[in-house]
Amino acid sequence: MKAIVLKRTGHPRVLELQDVPEPVPRAGEVRVHLRYTGINYAEILSRKGLYRWAPKRPYVLGMEGSGVIETVGAGVDPSRVGQKVMVGTQYGCYAEKVVVPQERAISAIESLTMEENAAFGVNYMTAWVALIELARLQVGEKVVVTAAAGGVGTAGVQLATRLGSQVYGLAGSPEKADLVRSLGAADAIDYTAPDWQQRLREMTGGVDVVLETVGGSVYRSCLELLNPFGRIVVAGFASLNLKRWNPASWWRTWRDVPRARLMDLARSSTGIMATHLGYLLDEPARLQTVFERLRAFVTEQEIRPVIGRLFPFEDVAAAHAFVESRQSVGKVLLKH
Ligand SMILES: NC(=O)c1ccc[n+]([C@@H]2O[C@H](COP(=O)([O-])OP(=O)(O)OC[C@H]3O[C@@H](n4cnc5c(N)ncnc54)[C@H](OP(=O)(O)O)[C@@H]3O)[C@@H](O)[C@H]2O)c1
Repeated sequence: MKAIVLKRTGHPRVLELQDVPEPVPRAGEVRVHLRYTGINYAEILSRKGLYRWAPKRPYVLGMEGSGVIETVGAGVDPSRVGQKVMVGTQYGCYAEKVVVPQERAISAIESLTMEENAAFGVNYMTAWVALIELARLQVGEKVVVTAAAGGVGTAGVQLATRLGSQVYGLAGSPEKADLVRSLGAADAIDYTAPDWQQRLREMTGGVDVVLETVGGSVYRSCLELLNPFGRIVVAGFASLNLKRWNPASWWRTWRDVPRARLMDLARSSTGIMATHLGYLLDEPARLQTVFERLRAFVTEQEIRPVIGRLFPFEDVAAAHAFVESRQSVGKVLLKH
């Protein structure tokens, strides 16, 4: 089968399609024939050699996708063959087929297309865990979502607005800000404009919850905006641009990584939290409970993922370059 094996790090052109043997499911595993693969920002970082949670190279990139179970290993209910599923895993989805433990192939959400299922798992679980499980978002609270037109961002805007909060999105262009408003946000600001912090303060007068994935000055400004009892949840830091051979970038990265100072939090009665879905994979029962709550909510609320662009599987390098360039909105998918 065809797969993208990450052997060396660097430019998107390191992503080369090659023939590899089909993986065989062992006991407790299933093999999924993928229809779509989702691109995650974490895979851009992995490609650059900057992602701590990535396995050791060489390995097949890819944390999520959707498809159909075609074979099961010993101990797995054989009636699962033919089931439509979404897959969430550490690696393996930049391929025609992937083998995963059976609990990582979750029955597809029926109200969504297979494209939408491939765009769902990582973004919506991350946003839900941040907003609901950690920040315990309450009806009527004011929420800021950073990189709000992106994958996690659009999910965060949709979930928070349907949960009855007033959402303010930050996005990297006026067009992206329009998209965020169209998803139900009370308002959106282009945070590449110089006066965005002041405008956000005037617009909100302070906020209760922040879903933060950018880092640096965006993180620091959002922290300053929190009302007493406010919570900020850090789920990423896309603006950090570490270059191995550039010591000045090491210093900028050190400066821009989100930090917490307990005495500052005590003075403001605010909370800083963080999440990483990958490490939660070691808690399958907990994840499953949360996922079923999320499934029920999006089905009832008729929420559908924003799919920004679809690339043919062979064009994975172009898909990476597109996401990296900040032009993408919502989820970018590869079609097999
Ligand atoms: N904790 C978790 O479990 C988890 C799970 C999934 C994703 N994440 C993190 O969440 C973030 C979003 O992931 P995603 O896959 O949905 O990607 P994405 O939001 O679709 O793409 C990243 C976005 O970050 C924004 N950004 C701000 N400064 C940037 C810079 N200097 N360079 C590049 N992008 C910049 C851009 O939006 P604007 O142009 O609008 O600023 C860009 O579109 C990433 O940091 C990712 O690592 C965390």
